[in-house]
Amino acid sequence: MHLMRSDGFQCLEGGNGLEALRQLEQHPVTLLMSDIRMPEMNGIELLREVRARYPETAVMMVSAVLDVDAAVQCLSLGAMDYLVKPYQLDEVRARVQQALEKRRLLIENRAYQEQLEQRVLLQTRKIEHTFLAAIQGFSSALEYKDPYTRGHSDRVSHYSTVIGKLMALDDELLRQIELGGHVHDIGKIGVREAVLNKAGPLTREEYEHIMTHPVVGWEILKPLLGDAPHALHIVRSHHERYDGRGIPDGLAGEEIPLEARIAAAADSLDAMTSDRPYRPSEMTLEMAIDELLRCAGTQFDRDVVAAIVAGAAAGTLQLMPRSIITPPGSRIGANGERIAAGVSA
Ligand SMILES: [Fe+2]
Repeated sequence: MHLMRSDGFQCLEGGNGLEALRQLEQHPVTLLMSDIRMPEMNGIELLREVRARYPETAVMMVSAVLDVDAAVQCLSLGAMDYLVKPYQLDEVRARVQQALEKRRLLIENRAYQEQLEQRVLLQTRKIEHTFLAAIQGFSSALEYKDPYTRGHSDRVSHYSTVIGKLMALDDELLRQIELGGHVHDIGKIGVREAVLNKAGPLTREEYEHIMTHPVVGWEILKPLLGDAPHALHIVRSHHERYDGRGIPDGLAGEEIPLEARIAAAADSLDAMTSDRPYRPSEMTLEMAIDELLRCAGTQFDRDVVAAIVAGAAAGTLQLMPRSIITPPGSRIGANGERIAAGVSA
């Protein structure tokens, strides 16, 4: 103590571990030197407490005898050093300096680590933001090309997420469902505009061309959405049917990823309840639910339809605002695959 004071340190003293802790509560310190054997609370208990409560305080243990087991225990609990009495003053001075230097480096390292983590987090957010903006750009490009999809992707994303929440899916899956909903029809970018905006019924060839969009979308997004496989499932499989008669893979039942079964129902829900120029009277939510119930087990997963029914009853699932979009000089006619209840492109 005398040596430390003569070296310019301010020192506090406690007769045992408890007293030392009381002192620390009033005055946190840079370095704590503690005997191992003390009444009431011994040095090892004190060491544990100090490491837990004051991680930036360096602790040096002091003992009258060399007890290898105790020394190992102290060092493994985070003590900086273990001194055995009697000791030379110069030795104490050197070991104290060493402990303080080690503490300084540890604190610096921790601060650097935290700074680095912050920077990585910030960069990751920027990359995610840029990525989502690019995906949003894809959606906008499609909406310019096919005005009837305007708002549709947002609504499918919203309905799918609400259904996913009603089915108690985890946050990561919900995040990917939201994304998948936004981009589910992106493959229509590859559909000829003459077909996309055709007035009147589609020929078989035209219908087959338009229905290539799940695979086209999947191929466009596959290199970009490696970290979001569930969103990709939605893009590829939102036109699968529960009875196995859908496209593109003819998957049936639970072979169809759950997120795609959800998006399929959400897609049809929006198709049925959106105002379209070629269909003067849109359905109410109740009418659309009747249609979903009629197609449950054949086109749709019964559990997904049950979640929609429950959500509507509880008021959790409500129709989003809709708008009539009439592109100049064009009018879509009775296009079977688009207007048949429970089916949408
Ligand atoms: Fe689609």
